[in-house]
Amino acid sequence: MPVLLKKISSNRADIAGATSNENVSHDLSSLLLRSYQEMPLLEVRNVTKVYPTEGAPVMALQNVSLEAEPGELIALVGRSGCGKSTLLNMCGAMDLPTSGEVILEGQSTASLDDASLTCLRREKVGFIFQSFQLLHTLTAAENVELPLLLARRKNPRGTALERLRWVDMEGYGDRFPHQLSGGQQQRVAIARALAHDPRLLLADEPTGNLDTVTGEIVLGLLHRTAREFGVAVIMATHSAEAASVAFRTVHLRDGRMQEAAVLL
Ligand SMILES: Nc1ncnc2c1ncn2[C@@H]1O[C@H](COP(=O)(O)OP(=O)(O)OP(=O)(O)O)[C@@H](O)[C@H]1O
Ligand SMILES: [Mg+2]
Repeated sequence: MPVLLKKISSNRADIAGATSNENVSHDLSSLLLRSYQEMPLLEVRNVTKVYPTEGAPVMALQNVSLEAEPGELIALVGRSGCGKSTLLNMCGAMDLPTSGEVILEGQSTASLDDASLTCLRREKVGFIFQSFQLLHTLTAAENVELPLLLARRKNPRGTALERLRWVDMEGYGDRFPHQLSGGQQQRVAIARALAHDPRLLLADEPTGNLDTVTGEIVLGLLHRTAREFGVAVIMATHSAEAASVAFRTVHLRDGRMQEAAVLL
């Protein structure tokens, strides 16, 4: 077992195997491929999310529908508590809707068991958070390498170093998170989120802890991620500046969707 995985012993049991579709006939495969190509990358259909609490249940999302295509950069905006993070969690299969459906590359998240959900996240989704959430006992390169090891990808170190180069962090691979600035940590977090070539990148307040100039660098990277790699990027933000770089803005209010504005 690679040294890095030994360091992360708590994650070891979580490694999910890939599924096989060897038995699907050729005709059926092409039919499935055709219908799959016509589907949006991500489809959120009439999603409602109710959190049970000790008091009254919280209706965090009500009948929200959203589609995301490859290469889009969507900003999710709205007041604190309007449901942005909840919606991102649904999109990334971190949590399941109470009703409605989330379909990611043709797979409805509600139809999958825990192991398949883990697999879906690991293969298709990248996450970026306001607080970076790098593992503090690992170096920058090890942080980026980790999802590749968990997904059993080839050449994890080489890919990790290549991603660090892409976010302009070449030469910082041996530093630990506490030896990096906030902006540098967020760039490492972007490299980690893109390490396994996800189809969907979810960013929850990615510039929330950064100054304006550093935030602009991070926004530029998210923009390039959508444009250059064709990744669908959905970003929850309170920042008007962040929303202004998005191609489309989705407004949430008290868990309901408001009119979407096409900006580009
Ligand atoms: N696990 C939970 N249990 C109960 N209620 C929750 C839970 N998570 C979120 N909520 C509630 O759901 C609503 C939506 O929360 P959410 O975190 O999605 O808002 P948000 O738009 O991301 O807010 P912010 O901008 O402050 O991050 C809020 O009323 C929140 O209190
Ligand atoms: Mg939030």
